[in-house]
Amino acid sequence: MNQAGVKHNTIKTHSLTDRLVIRRPDDWHVHLRDGDMLKSVVNYTARQFARAIVMPNLPSPITTAKAAEEYRARIVKAVASDIDFQPLMTCYLTDAIDANEVALGFDKGIFSACKLYPANATTNSSHGVTDIKKIYPVLEVMQRIGMPLLVHGEVTDSDIDIFDREAVFIERTMSKITANFPALKVVFEHITTADAVAFVEESGPLVGATITPHHLDFNRNAMFQGGIKPHYYCLPVAKREVHRLALRRAVTSGSAKFFLGTDSAPHTVGAKESACGCAGIFNAPYALESYVQVFEEEGKLENFEAFASENGPKFYGLPMNSEHIVLERQDTNVPSDMDAAGAQVIPYRANEVLRWQFKGPEATVA
Ligand code: NCD
Ligand code: ZN
Repeated sequence: MNQAGVKHNTIKTHSLTDRLVIRRPDDWHVHLRDGDMLKSVVNYTARQFARAIVMPNLPSPITTAKAAEEYRARIVKAVASDIDFQPLMTCYLTDAIDANEVALGFDKGIFSACKLYPANATTNSSHGVTDIKKIYPVLEVMQRIGMPLLVHGEVTDSDIDIFDREAVFIERTMSKITANFPALKVVFEHITTADAVAFVEESGPLVGATITPHHLDFNRNAMFQGGIKPHYYCLPVAKREVHRLALRRAVTSGSAKFFLGTDSAPHTVGAKESACGCAGIFNAPYALESYVQVFEEEGKLENFEAFASENGPKFYGLPMNSEHIVLERQDTNVPSDMDAAGAQVIPYRANEVLRWQFKGPEATVA
């Protein structure tokens, strides 16, 4: 373990590959924020990923097609002119969400999916759903039109231990959603437990999951190693080592059910280093470098492209990207902090050295 409590994983099988050329990946779960923060962070995502599923949890959540279209335009405007990037917008489900609005937005190609936040589960989720039954009419419509449901899978009851909230959610809510809506596409977002891996593996092909780089790299001890470490705090919170190992097995297994979703969630350093610090890890700047290292350590580099670039589009029913990108085995020094929105944000794995480097689109790399 290094000072921060991140596991230093040993490489299981030494691979002779020093250069990977893969289909350009997509990020199936990201928080791009708005205003100055959006302008500061969006190009980190856009330079590595062709498309991204953009979370709708702005302080005023995205619940209408009009709001999503306007937000999409702000994102596109903030992307550098030499980068090709397509934001895929999501609708934030509330108890009062209008099923017609959701269906119309999907039909017009404005919404790609709906996001379910249990009320008060995480950042900006106070407008979330208080009882799953309240949105059954919307789920019915989504099932009919083939619109995916993206789920933040944690119960919010204060009497349930925070480390058990994902497992209890499976029992109380997720299993009901998949049983009552067997033809609904469901993505279990940012899974953190062996229980969620098992649930997804045992479900049919319409149930998939995203997994973040940070949940593959460290377990819950990282938050407390030598003192309280707010930059390792996110939701769902990291769990025990046995869960981290189950996630690593799942992503590298070659199963089409698991795909890349960074859950990059920037907060300014002041909002993180506080008596009541925000949940979220800003991993967008070196996302691919972080993920590929996991596949290398597990001796499964050959399965990286499917996880990063193929399983997501197949699940969503979208075409795969045709361009390719290059990653090389070369040290990448992660800076201690980065400027954003007139303040600093601390990137994931700050001050560490990653073993791979993203070189850009294949066409532009010598
Ligand atoms: C996210 C955020 O800050 O918007 N935080 C996080 O810890 N992942 C919200 C979320 O996805 O839970
Ligand atoms: Zn998220």
